Amino acid sequence: MLSGQTVVVTGCAGFIGSHVVDRLLSTGHSVVGIDNFSTGQRRFLEGALWHPRFRLWEADLLDVDALGRALAGGELVIHLAGTPTFGSGQSTPARTSSRIRSRRSMSSRR
Ligand SMILES: NC(=O)c1ccc[n+]([C@@H]2O[C@H](COP(=O)([O-])OP(=O)(O)OC[C@H]3O[C@@H](n4cnc5c(N)ncnc54)[C@H](O)[C@@H]3O)[C@@H](O)[C@H]2O)c1
Repeated sequence: MLSGQTVVVTGCAGFIGSHVVDRLLSTGHSVVGIDNFSTGQRRFLEGALWHPRFRLWEADLLDVDALGRALAGGELVIHLAGTPTFGSGQSTPARTSSRIRSRRSMSSRR
């Protein structure tokens, strides 16, 4: 990864995503973060929110228009948005299958 690249991080307000954001900013990257705050926490981004090279999109990945705008200009995507619990595919199959479709949609935009 080249320093100075613009990296899109989905799930940027999550446990892993927020650490990845901090690391990318500290190594000279610009970061576009996407999160719907379903499990993410704004306080995890308190170091990044003021940073001039960080831009936050508060949006759901299933919102294809918002996703397209967030991805525009990104050179690399680190996809960390997800449901960390097991069994969601059985309890909420429609939502889980929508998430899989949105991942495919993101892959096809590369
Ligand atoms: N934490 C672990 O030990 C671990 C281990 C293996 C794999 N993982 C995977 O790594 C990923 C991140 O894990 P984490 O622990 O940081 O979870 P997390 O819940 O802390 O972070 C996930 C983030 O994704 C966001 N999100 C979820 N659905 C979204 C959507 N549709 N649109 C936009 N944002 C959405 C949530 O708000 C949250 O901020 C997950 O896919 C998880 O399954 C985590």
